[in-house]
Amino acid sequence: MIVRSSGTQPIAIEQDVVLARQTTRKLATECGMRLIDLTKLVTAVSELARNTMVYGGGGDMDWQVLDDSTRVGLRLTFRDEGPGIADLKLAMTDGWTSGGGLGLGLTGAKRLVDEFELDTAPGEGTRITITRWT
Ligand SMILES: Nc1ncnc2c1ncn2[C@@H]1O[C@H](COP(=O)(O)OP(=O)(O)O)[C@@H](O)[C@H]1O
Ligand SMILES: [Mg+2]
Repeated sequence: MIVRSSGTQPIAIEQDVVLARQTTRKLATECGMRLIDLTKLVTAVSELARNTMVYGGGGDMDWQVLDDSTRVGLRLTFRDEGPGIADLKLAMTDGWTSGGGLGLGLTGAKRLVDEFELDTAPGEGTRITITRWT
């Protein structure tokens, strides 16, 4: 598998969530992703970027366009150095929120992508990587 291109952008304020969506839409279009898959990915990015901003206290989104010779994919990592997620099992339960949200962001994002990886530790932050293949 090769990384065709990559980059990073900050997720600190509301406007960065909009920019993260725009970058994802642009890259997914360049990958030739179907509109239905692109829409799913952009929705997942909205949720994860907002979590990075609200709960993580801000962070970054890394993006990579991948090519594994049979298909092309877009991989996105949301990183923050916030409080981390104390109870991951609880956080990955539909409807559970610590902040008065709908509690569907993490579980929804997981369903909308092909690969979902979450690393977190209390006091050390959170890192979530999602991948969608064409
Ligand atoms: N980056 C993060 N850092 C710390 N906690 C997080 C982060 N992302 C999610 N969480 C925790 O997981 C919970 C569930 O997130 P989510 O499913 O997006 O629901 P909501 O945003 O509606 O609360 C949040 O309420 C929060 O407690
Ligand atoms: Mg959320």
